[in-house]
Amino acid sequence: MQVTIVRDKEQMGKRAAALIAEQMRAKPHFVLGLATGSTPLPLYHELIRMNQAGELDFSTTITFNLDEYVGLPPTHDQSYRRFMNVNLFDHININQAATHVPDGMAADPDAFCEAYERMIADVGGIDCQVLGIGSNGHIAFNEPGSSLASRTRVVKLTKSTIKDNSRFFARMEDVPTRAISMGIGTVLEAQRIVMLAYGANKADAVAAALEGPVTVSVPASALQMHPRVNWIIVEDAATKLKLEWDR
Ligand code: PGA
Repeated sequence: MQVTIVRDKEQMGKRAAALIAEQMRAKPHFVLGLATGSTPLPLYHELIRMNQAGELDFSTTITFNLDEYVGLPPTHDQSYRRFMNVNLFDHININQAATHVPDGMAADPDAFCEAYERMIADVGGIDCQVLGIGSNGHIAFNEPGSSLASRTRVVKLTKSTIKDNSRFFARMEDVPTRAISMGIGTVLEAQRIVMLAYGANKADAVAAALEGPVTVSVPASALQMHPRVNWIIVEDAATKLKLEWDR
């Protein structure tokens, strides 16, 4: 694994965008795996800037997002589809039909999960997957205890996640209790992985994932088994690392 520690999240976004742009320019019809949350926003800012400056073309890019809430329509302001439109897709020259976010309204979510895996396989697999890490070490909605071989599936959200999310919804019964998530096994099949982290609340998870044992207790530790992972970490999330990494 290659680990780069940077000063601030703007640097994190720029480094990640430069890495991804280099790969995209080398391969038309690039298949990019994307993530939601606050972590990838500095990356998306930079990708938008590059696209609008004419430095990076998305016209043939295909994207797959990691996850989506079950029961939220794409127009819901908390849906991950809407997050992606607002924070990236609406601002770049991507073909919207080539952007894939799991369908939280699928009539048969289990069948949808199988179809999502097939769609990824049909375009030749993911060339580069962007990831964030949860403070408990999760990746996508693969919470601690998820099988390292897991595939795209419906997962139950933990009580603490449901409670955390309740602030975004008018009524407790509107808060999603399930999500569709790529599995850890799915993520590990990407050709390359770019893992981003910032914030002191991520420091323990980053250290456990990078320097601890590979374990289902820390889903991100599974990345140790992947041959081409770039970690780009802001200093405040790197304070618990013991080994010498690039700065
Ligand atoms: P965050 O979430 O980017 O909002 O910190 C990351 C994650 O939980 O995967």
